[in-house]
Amino acid sequence: MKAEEQIINQIGRKDFRLLFNDGELKERVKALAYEINRDFANSKTLKIIGVLKGSFIFIADLVRELKIPVHIEFITASSYSKMQSTGIVSIRENTFTTLQGKDVLIIEDIIDSGLTIKTLVDFIKEKGPNSLKVCALFMKPDKIKESICKIDYVGFHLKDEFVVGYGLDFDQRYRELPHVIELLNSEL
Ligand code: IMP
Ligand code: MG
Repeated sequence: MKAEEQIINQIGRKDFRLLFNDGELKERVKALAYEINRDFANSKTLKIIGVLKGSFIFIADLVRELKIPVHIEFITASSYSKMQSTGIVSIRENTFTTLQGKDVLIIEDIIDSGLTIKTLVDFIKEKGPNSLKVCALFMKPDKIKESICKIDYVGFHLKDEFVVGYGLDFDQRYRELPHVIELLNSEL
């Protein structure tokens, strides 16, 4: 069955555009892992900090392509209500092992205004890592408002699309889709 048909059957709506199918996502994740393997080849244990919930599938796929030892931690950040940022980022830290003197890589699903990643980077910097890099599967360069840190690894650049699937949600829905689609209207 074609991806579009499968998605229509699964979510019961047709108002979407398929942007990246599972194969395309897999290829891009592999290429990102290649860069991370290369850049951290000489690092001791890399601390990965995954930003929940949206990045859970991306992280699961990415870490299985890594050839270096890592420790994985999670942090929860949220600023979105349905399709819009509320402008306030709340962070919930699950008890971390120390980040002092460690090489840290934050893994985020998508960077929109940049507010979430800026807040997270400031929060992690306080913990005294040796180095801090950021990896995001998606980024919307035209929408960035914050003067944010450099994003070291980006999967795909988007325009103004609101995307779901592969972990990303619209009001908690559609995270389970293996493909990434653009939702064409904001009705639930
Ligand atoms: P920012 O703080 O404006 O950069 O928003 C980042 C967060 O908003 C991401 O971590 C996502 O959870 C959510 N978000 C932004 N754009 C989208 C989208 O297109 N689809 C789903 N979630 C999004
Ligand atoms: Mg997120």
